[in-house]
Amino acid sequence: MCGIVGYVGPRAPLDVLIPGLRRLEYRGYDSAGVGVVVDGRVAVVKKEGPLQRLEAALEGSGLDGAPAAAGAVCTGLGHTRWATHGRPSDENAHPHTNEDGTLAVVHNGIIENDAELRRELEVRGHVFRSETDTEVVAHLVEEFYGPGGAAEGDLAAAVRLALRRLKGAYAFVIISAREPGRIVVVRQSSPLIIGLGEGEAFAASGIPALLPYTRRMIALNDGEMADLRPDRVVITTFDGTPVRHEPFTVDWNEEQAEKGGFPHFMLKEIHEQPEVWRQTLRRRLLEDGTVDVTETGLMGGPAAVVRRIAIAACGTAYHAGLVGKTLFERWARIPVDADLASEFRYRDPLVGPDTLTIVISQSGETADTLAAMRAAKERGSRTLAIVNVVGSTIAREADAVFYTHAGPEIAVASTKAYTTQILALALLALAFARERGTLDGAQARALGRELQRLPVLAEAALAAEPAVRAHARRLAQHEDVFFIGRGLDYAAAMEAQLKLKEISYIHAEAYAAGELKHGTLALVTDGVPVVAIATQPPLLDKTISNIREVQARGAWVIGVATSGEGRVGGVPVGGGAGVGAAAAASGKTAAAVAGTAASGAAVNAAAEADWAPTAPALSGVVEDVIAVPATHPFLQPVLTAIPLQLLAYYAAVERGHNVDKPRNLAKSVTVE
Ligand code: G6P
Repeated sequence: MCGIVGYVGPRAPLDVLIPGLRRLEYRGYDSAGVGVVVDGRVAVVKKEGPLQRLEAALEGSGLDGAPAAAGAVCTGLGHTRWATHGRPSDENAHPHTNEDGTLAVVHNGIIENDAELRRELEVRGHVFRSETDTEVVAHLVEEFYGPGGAAEGDLAAAVRLALRRLKGAYAFVIISAREPGRIVVVRQSSPLIIGLGEGEAFAASGIPALLPYTRRMIALNDGEMADLRPDRVVITTFDGTPVRHEPFTVDWNEEQAEKGGFPHFMLKEIHEQPEVWRQTLRRRLLEDGTVDVTETGLMGGPAAVVRRIAIAACGTAYHAGLVGKTLFERWARIPVDADLASEFRYRDPLVGPDTLTIVISQSGETADTLAAMRAAKERGSRTLAIVNVVGSTIAREADAVFYTHAGPEIAVASTKAYTTQILALALLALAFARERGTLDGAQARALGRELQRLPVLAEAALAAEPAVRAHARRLAQHEDVFFIGRGLDYAAAMEAQLKLKEISYIHAEAYAAGELKHGTLALVTDGVPVVAIATQPPLLDKTISNIREVQARGAWVIGVATSGEGRVGGVPVGGGAGVGAAAAASGKTAAAVAGTAASGAAVNAAAEADWAPTAPALSGVVEDVIAVPATHPFLQPVLTAIPLQLLAYYAAVERGHNVDKPRNLAKSVTVE
C-alpha cells in the first residue's frame, strides 16, 4: 500500500518524483524517500515523517530543482512507505541500495522469503542496513548484476534471475547508476502502472501520480516486468516472453484519480477487500491450511496456559471483537469477555497473569483502547494488539502485535479494517485451538482452507452491488431501521446498524432476534424496515420465526442469507441445487439438515459443523433477499459485512451525505 514513482527522461527528476509522491499521499504513509542517479551512484535521501521533511532534507542536497543539462537523461525513483516490515524510520524508508550505492530499489508488498534470502546473502558477504524485506531485493539483484554475476551489467536480465528466487506479492522499481537512462519495473500482485511520454517514461503504483505528465498508460499484469528507457518500453513476462499491451488513455479528473476511479474512498475501500484480505492471510496461512502466527510470540507456551481472554475495543473494532469472542470460545474453548474499551477501563477489570487481553484498533491510537490496554497491563495481563497502523502507539506498547495489513483506510466509516480484524481473530483463534488441542490438525486445516477461499468469495459478494443499491434507495426513504439476527448474525447486525447510522444518519438499531418480543417489537409497525440476517444454519428456523413475528406487524423485511456452496461431510453441496434447495423443497430447512449432520461430532462440533446455503429456506418467506456467498458459519460475518457496507453506503449517497466524512465523527479518536 506504499506509493511508488519512477522516472527516466529529460526533466529534473525531483520535479516528477516529489509531486508524484504528493499525489499518492492520500493513501497514508509514514516515511518518504527518493533516489537519483548522479555521478556514478544513486544519491538517496529519505526521511521518516511527512513529505515536507524529505523536501527540507533535499534542500541544498544538490538534487533539488537543478534542471538537467540540455539533452541529458535523468533517472530516479521515489517512495512513500507504509511500514510493514520494521518500524517507520529513516533507515527503513525506501529506496534501499546495494552496498556501494550503485543500485536502488523501491517496493510495495511483501517478500515472503526475505529471512531465508537475507541469511543466504549475508553468508555471501552482503551487509544489510535496514530491517526491511525490500533491501533483500537490492542485494539479490546485485548478485547477478555485479562483477562476475550471471547477468553482469544488464539490469533487466539480473532482475529476471532474481525474480526466480523471490516469493510473495510485490511491485518494485529498480535503477542502476551503471546504466543511467534505464528503469526496470516488476509487478506481482501489487499494482504498477507505466506512463508513456514523448522521450520519457514513468512508473507508479497509482494512476494519480502520473496524471500531470501523461494520460497514456499501461497497467502491468501479475508476472510481468518492463524495461523502460526514454524512447522505448519493453514488456515481458518474468521468463522473458514478450508481451504486447495496448496503452489506455485515462480521462479521470483529479479527484476521481485519488479515489482510484471510485466516487468515494469508502466505496474504494469496500472494493479493496478481496485484495487486502489476501494481504492479511499471506504468510500466516500455509498452502495446506495450516495457520502460522508465531510472529505473536504466543505459540509454544503462552497460548496453552491462557485461562481467559478479555477483548477491548471501540466502535467497529469492538464489533469485530464480538465475532472474535465466538471464534475463541467455540474453536479454542477459552472463555472470552468482549468489552467496549471505554467501559472496560473504568470497571476495574478482573484480568491478571492468566488472562490475555486482546485490544483491536485500526488506527492504534484510540484513547480508550490505549487506556484499556494499559489498565490490563497494570494488572499483570499479557496484551496482544490487532492493529492496522504500523508503529502506532498501541502497537508500540502492546506485548505482541498482529497487524491486519489492510492498507490505509481513509473513509471515517471502517470497512476493510473491520473485515481484516475478523480475519486476524480467526487466524489467532485457530492457532490457539491447535495449541490447546481443542481442534485436531485436520479440523484446523480444513478451516484454514476455508479462510483461503474467502478473498474469492468476497469478489462474488461484491457482485450483489446493483441489487443492494436498489434496496438502499428504498431504505433511504425511512427514518428508522432495525437489524436483527442471532449468534454471529447478531454481531454482524451490530456492525451493519452502526455503518448505516454513521453515514446515512438514519436511526438504526440492532437487536438479538430472540429479544425483540421483550420490548422492541412495540416499535415495529406497518412498513418499518427490518434487515433480518439469517446466515447461520443452526439458528435459521428460529430466525425465520422472528421474521414472521415482524412481518405479522407489517414490517418490510430485507433478508440477508447465503447462497452458493455449502459443505456436508466435507463435501461441497449447494450451488442452488444442493442440500439447501433440496431441504427447502422437502419442507425442511437447511438448518434442520445441517443440524442433523453435525450432531454427534466429537470434541469440537463447532469445527465439524456442516452447513448449507440458507437462502433457499427464505424463499417464500421474504421477498427481498440479499444473497451472500456461503462459507463456514463462523467465518460468515466477514462476507456478510460486504453487502451491508454497500447498503449503508448507497443509502448515504441517496441522501446526499458526505460519505467519507460524516458529521461529528473522526477517523481516529485520540481523546476520551
Ligand atoms: C472512530 C471511527 C470508527 C472506529 C473507532 C475505533 O469512532 O470513526 O470507524 O471503529 O473510532 O477506531 P480504531 O482506530 O481504534 O479502530
